[in-house]
Amino acid sequence: MIFDMEINKEKLLYQTHQKFMETGFNSPESLDILDDLVVPDIMGFGTTIDERIFSVADLKELIKRQREQSKGLEIKWVANPVMRKVLTNENVAIFVDDVEIDVTIINDTIRIFLRYSSVVEYQSDKWVVVHFHGSKPENVKTDEDTWGIEDWKNKNAELEKLVKERTSELEKSLVHLKATQSQLVQQEKLASLGALTAGIAHEIKNPLNFVNNFSELSTELVDEFIQTTDETERQEIGSDLKINLQKINEHGKRADSIVKNMLQHSRRGSGEKQLTDINQLCEEYFNLAFHGKRATDAGFNCEMVKKLENNLPQINCVVQDISRVILNLINNAFDAVRERELEGKTPNYKPTVTLSTQQINNSISISIRDNGKGIPQHIQEKIFEPFFTTKPAGQGTGLGLSLSYDIVKAHGGEMKLETKEGEGTEFAITLPK
Ligand SMILES: Nc1ncnc2c1ncn2[C@@H]1O[C@H](COP(=O)(O)OP(=O)(O)O)[C@@H](O)[C@H]1O
Ligand SMILES: [Mg+2]
Repeated sequence: MIFDMEINKEKLLYQTHQKFMETGFNSPESLDILDDLVVPDIMGFGTTIDERIFSVADLKELIKRQREQSKGLEIKWVANPVMRKVLTNENVAIFVDDVEIDVTIINDTIRIFLRYSSVVEYQSDKWVVVHFHGSKPENVKTDEDTWGIEDWKNKNAELEKLVKERTSELEKSLVHLKATQSQLVQQEKLASLGALTAGIAHEIKNPLNFVNNFSELSTELVDEFIQTTDETERQEIGSDLKINLQKINEHGKRADSIVKNMLQHSRRGSGEKQLTDINQLCEEYFNLAFHGKRATDAGFNCEMVKKLENNLPQINCVVQDISRVILNLINNAFDAVRERELEGKTPNYKPTVTLSTQQINNSISISIRDNGKGIPQHIQEKIFEPFFTTKPAGQGTGLGLSLSYDIVKAHGGEMKLETKEGEGTEFAITLPK
């Protein structure tokens, strides 16, 4: 006990003071309790310059305002006693506290300091507050914001606005980035298409020659057919013509399929899977890539070994995507052997690229092996990164492997790399059936 007074009276004094503070801060209790706690003409100062209280009604008004201002905020407070003093016959007491109030908005908490004094008087068997004075030793503006929270809320709103602005900026640049990315992917497609064009032209030339030759021949045959009167001869010419037309049709179809493939390669993928003969696809792209490389580098030559497994089951895949992977890997292999050849360090070097397919349990594997320059240890981790390239500007986009890796993953497959610097490289893809 601090005071030398009757125990019950002292208890009551503490209770009254405590209740008064609670009501003023964050208790949700009805304000009617104040009628019991304070004198009707209570005089007090609030925390702002214009807060002057001369009655219970004023006090209720002030607390009501504070409660409204702090709606939605989590408020915790603790009072640290600075002074307790009893005056005149133990019927008047002064309480002085430093009050710390923690106000939480969303996840941010601010701490407000209040100095709080009250004078409590013992009147007809109970303690009542006759005067109080709250002060905030910081800048607080008007009665619209008795605790200075409003200011802080504004700051919060400003921050939120800033975050929103930044977010929308970020969203914009993300959209831009995505657009750029798809542009680059398109560029890589076109680059590999460019390299293919020569190969394609070469491949189409063959069936076109057939079509031209056989149609010329057939025109002559038709002339003969019209002129002759011999029935047996007519029969013979007729069956020759039929064979020629079938050949023309066959080679026309072949040219058609090459063009179709080319178009498929450049088109944005429909993403639809279809049953595909991987051996045929590999062979086709092996040839196309070879002639493509030759067209841009007349000195290029390379032993092309094919080890394609007979009866390789067809697999379900997005053809233009898988063909892009195969093409990328073959082109990289050609580049690697060519570089090693041009280095000229290996006597009797014979550039060789081996393409093999194989069925392994429930998947098929496609391997592209070269005896090129190999990949040094320190860049092995980087080669799958977008834009990583060791090729001269304009020649490499650095997107081939990263695209290929994504495509293989999207098919539920794997891509493995084995390489030895100065000896060669093997990329093996497995694709589920
Ligand atoms: N078969 C290979 N042999 C040696 N290095 C290779 C091989 N394949 C890929 N690389 C290395 O990986 C890099 C990235 O390849 P890629 O993503 O296809 O981009 P790009 O071919 O445009 O450079 C190449 O620049 C090269 O350094
Ligand atoms: Mg490449």
